[in-house]
Amino acid sequence: KLASKSSGQKADFVVVANRLPVDRVINSDGSVDWRTSPGGLVTALEPVMRAQNGAWVGWHGAPDEKLEPFNNNGLELVPVELSTHEIAEYYEGFSNATLWPLYHDVVAHPKFHREWWVEYKKVNQRFAERTAEVADTNAVVWVQDYQLSLVPQMLRDLRPDLRIGFFLHIPFPPPELYRQLPWRNSILRGMLGADIVGFQLPGGANNFCELVRRQLKLPVQRHEVTMPDDRRVLARAYPISIDAQGFAELAASAPVQERAAQIRRDLGNPSTLVLGIDRLDYTKGLRQRLRAFGELVSEGALSPSDSVFLQVANPSRERVEEYRRLRDDIDMLVGRLNGNVGTIGHPPITYLHTSYPREEMAAMYVAADVMMVTPLRDGMNLVAKEFVASRTDNTGALVLSEFAGAARELKQAYLVNPYDIDGMKEGLMTAIQDSPAAKTKRMKAMRKHVFEHDINHWADEVLRDLGADL
Ligand code: G6P
Repeated sequence: KLASKSSGQKADFVVVANRLPVDRVINSDGSVDWRTSPGGLVTALEPVMRAQNGAWVGWHGAPDEKLEPFNNNGLELVPVELSTHEIAEYYEGFSNATLWPLYHDVVAHPKFHREWWVEYKKVNQRFAERTAEVADTNAVVWVQDYQLSLVPQMLRDLRPDLRIGFFLHIPFPPPELYRQLPWRNSILRGMLGADIVGFQLPGGANNFCELVRRQLKLPVQRHEVTMPDDRRVLARAYPISIDAQGFAELAASAPVQERAAQIRRDLGNPSTLVLGIDRLDYTKGLRQRLRAFGELVSEGALSPSDSVFLQVANPSRERVEEYRRLRDDIDMLVGRLNGNVGTIGHPPITYLHTSYPREEMAAMYVAADVMMVTPLRDGMNLVAKEFVASRTDNTGALVLSEFAGAARELKQAYLVNPYDIDGMKEGLMTAIQDSPAAKTKRMKAMRKHVFEHDINHWADEVLRDLGADL
């Protein structure tokens, strides 16, 4: 039997997520490295875990390996193994080709396969069992995201003593879309195993409550569901955030400031540097964003000799078909635009398909004049908040999609509809041409919000509702 924590002790606070905060990578010489995992979930939860000193149960990113619990950089990590087959059917299949597109407004077609569902249940059960072994009596367990929606109820069946929270990092769709899912009631019941079910936005919480009422015929009053055994489940929004202070300090540090200046020099000191940083995902609106920028250059509104668009796309879910197709599309689009509108030494788009450490991302945020965050649908989008936190001198402009959760909070951004290419072109031009005073006013207001609603604020609210005495 595997130990609970690396120390052999049980934990009174446990986070459960599909991924651990680090991925195990094996280098070509056979040596092993641990690298920060992709995505907003890890960005947000890592500082929370450091403060709480609990255990983190999750997959370490590699197939067919059973690892003992270990301590990495001060965090207690409890690996859950996944076989190659489970990765294909539970992770790439049900999580990322069924639930992910369905929950993001079906911007890609969700696929419904019964075999995937079987694996999803099986893997959720494994996460629940592993967590039940790790958690101390009366511990607080916090289950994360769509990959593990069945874990709350499975865990409650195993360990009724626990306080269980569930948080969904992505949107929760309107009933008309959700109801397509053949396993809709099972997933709702799985989530209702928690004491609190958290969403990014009030809209998601409302969708959930309506579905619980309609599909399960359970009474819901003021966001509280009454279960058949009289247990109460609170479903509400807790908009997630970042370690704003930490990010601002990093951005203001001398090495990051120097690196930012170097990035501008390397790009030929353009008068306008537009930045995009996203996981390479079809929800992020990359095609539309590139088209908008390309048209502005080809129409002469922006000049290729002094406008640069730096787009970083972090590799993601590369074995899922839609993601492969997206990568090919973006490669082609970038090549075509640079070929059509570039001049010698001035390709207007610099496209990098890779991931960078926090320091390099911070330097890019500092270097940019305008940041474009234009997803077709996004639970929150923490890149937008990181950009804002990094602008310690109150300069810079954020062009933000109305369909990112962050738009509800960052109201002073230049808000655009990413489906409306002309509207996006207008939004970008306004963001470029507005007076410095107007931009500063907007940036100040957004910074105030992000600093007042940082990750500690988020964690405090959830843990308070969970009755966690930590
Ligand atoms: C989003 C999801 C996370 C996920 C991350 C990276 O932020 O909400 O649950 O971990 O994307 O995706 P990946 O499939 O690489 O874990």
